[in-house]
Amino acid sequence: MAELLIEALPAEAVDDVAQLSDLSGLQVNVGQELQQSHAAVFVARESKGTAALAYVVLWKVADELQIVDIATAPRHRRRGAARQLLEHVGSLRRHGFSCVLLEVRSSNTAARALYERVGFVELRVRRGYYSDGEDAVEMSWQLTPDSQTSATGAAKRRT
Ligand SMILES: CC(C)(COP(=O)(O)OP(=O)(O)OC[C@H]1O[C@@H](n2cnc3c(N)ncnc32)[C@H](O)[C@@H]1OP(=O)(O)O)[C@@H](O)C(=O)NCCC(=O)NCCS
Repeated sequence: MAELLIEALPAEAVDDVAQLSDLSGLQVNVGQELQQSHAAVFVARESKGTAALAYVVLWKVADELQIVDIATAPRHRRRGAARQLLEHVGSLRRHGFSCVLLEVRSSNTAARALYERVGFVELRVRRGYYSDGEDAVEMSWQLTPDSQTSATGAAKRRT
């Protein structure tokens, strides 16, 4: 996929994100997130005026970023949209963030592969973390001066 436009959620894309979240089986309440001063939402679009095809919701906690939610529209998957969003997240190091943390369902092989691809490592398994009893895997990504380029480089090396 060509380079996407990554930007803080523009007003016209709020409904796109709500739809993407529904399609992905995630339950992000964008309106609620945006009211929280520690939350940030970024979207990926082909260009201004086109629909958002992926989004990420973050919480900023001191010098850490927590990924609350990330999803790509089903028909745009495996084309690098989520990776480009995560590269953008990695670039927030320039604003003083030192690491990115998240929890992911242990059965979510696509998301776990994505996170490993950009540089996340597993910290620990939290048994029965989700309400249905599934385990969560906690992962972290230490941001270094070359975090963004190493995520991109990993992608380039494989293509
Ligand atoms: C996980 C998800 C966000 C990935 O989005 P995506 O835009 O398709 O991911 P990308 O195309 O950027 O993938 C980058 C890399 O991640 C890995 N990856 C992504 N999806 C994968 C899959 N289904 N199987 C294996 N590896 C996968 C691959 O290494 C891929 O690179 P490659 O395509 O060159 O092999 C998407 O599948 C999704 O929206 N899932 C539903 C929501 C969800 O589970 N979110 C995570 C909540 S923690």
